[in-house]
Amino acid sequence: MEIIVLPDAAEVGRVAALKIAQVVERRPEAVLGLATGSSPTDIYASLARRVAAGELDFSRASGFALDEYVGIPLEHPESYASVIRRDVVEPLGMDPARVRVPDGRAADVEAAAEEYDAAIAAAGGIDVQILGIGANGHIGFNEPTSSFASRTRIKTLAPQTRADNARFFDDPDQVPTHCLTQGLGTILDAHEVVLVAQGERKAAAVAGMVEGPLSAMCPGSALQLHRHATIVVDEAAASRLTLVDYYRHTYENKPAWQRFA
Ligand code: F6R
Repeated sequence: MEIIVLPDAAEVGRVAALKIAQVVERRPEAVLGLATGSSPTDIYASLARRVAAGELDFSRASGFALDEYVGIPLEHPESYASVIRRDVVEPLGMDPARVRVPDGRAADVEAAAEEYDAAIAAAGGIDVQILGIGANGHIGFNEPTSSFASRTRIKTLAPQTRADNARFFDDPDQVPTHCLTQGLGTILDAHEVVLVAQGERKAAAVAGMVEGPLSAMCPGSALQLHRHATIVVDEAAASRLTLVDYYRHTYENKPAWQRFA
C-alpha cells in the first residue's frame, strides 16, 4: 500500500486524478472501475477539466461502476446509472456504450451479478479501480463481515450506510435497502486501485483499512492484500494513522522515476 497524505480535499482530488490520467495516457483503451458518492467527485471534476482542455481523451476507455441500488428506477437522479452518466460519462467524454453499471432492476439479480463479473473479465479486467470508503469501513457496498473472496452480488445496506446516503434523497425512507456491488474479490482482481478519503468522519475507517488487522469487520482492510493500492487522504482522514510521519517521509522522498505528481 502506498499512503499519500495531502493538506486538503482539493489536493486529494488533484493528485488521485493524476494517477488515473497516467493510466489512461499509457493505455487509451483502459478499463476504469468507477465509484460514486462524494469522495471521487473532485477526481472526476479534475479529469473533466483536462478533457475540456484537450489534454486527455477518454473516448476509447471503458468503465464498470462499482455498485448500484436494487429496485431504483433507471431514470431516478440518484440511481448510480444516472450519477455515472452525469458525473463521469458526459464530462469525461466517454462512450456510453462502453460504460456499464450493475443492473439493479434485473428480474434475476443473481444472474445479472454473475454476468457483470464475466463482463469485467471479458474486458480484460479493470486497469484502475477508483474507490471511496464508508465510515464503517465498507468499500463498494461490501459492508462489515463481507467475505474477502466475494464476487459481484446483492447485499443489504447497513443502517449507517442508508443514513449516510440519505443526504442524496428527499426522505431517508427512500434510500434503497439493497444493492448490487462488486465483491471484495472482484475489487482485489483490479490491476491497480486508488482509494480516496476526506474528512475526520473517515479517520477511523482509514486507520482500520491501513493499519488495522486484516478483518472482514473492516472490509477496506482487504486492500492490504492488493499488490498495487494507492490510498490518497487529507490530513483529517489521516488523523488516526499512527505511522503518518513515515507515510509523509516516504512520499516526499520517492525516487524521481516513481513519481506521478
Ligand atoms: C460508492 C461506493 C461507496 C462509497 C462510500 C463513501 O460507489 O461504493 O463505497 O465510496 O460509501 O461514500 P462517500 O464518498 O459519499 O462518502
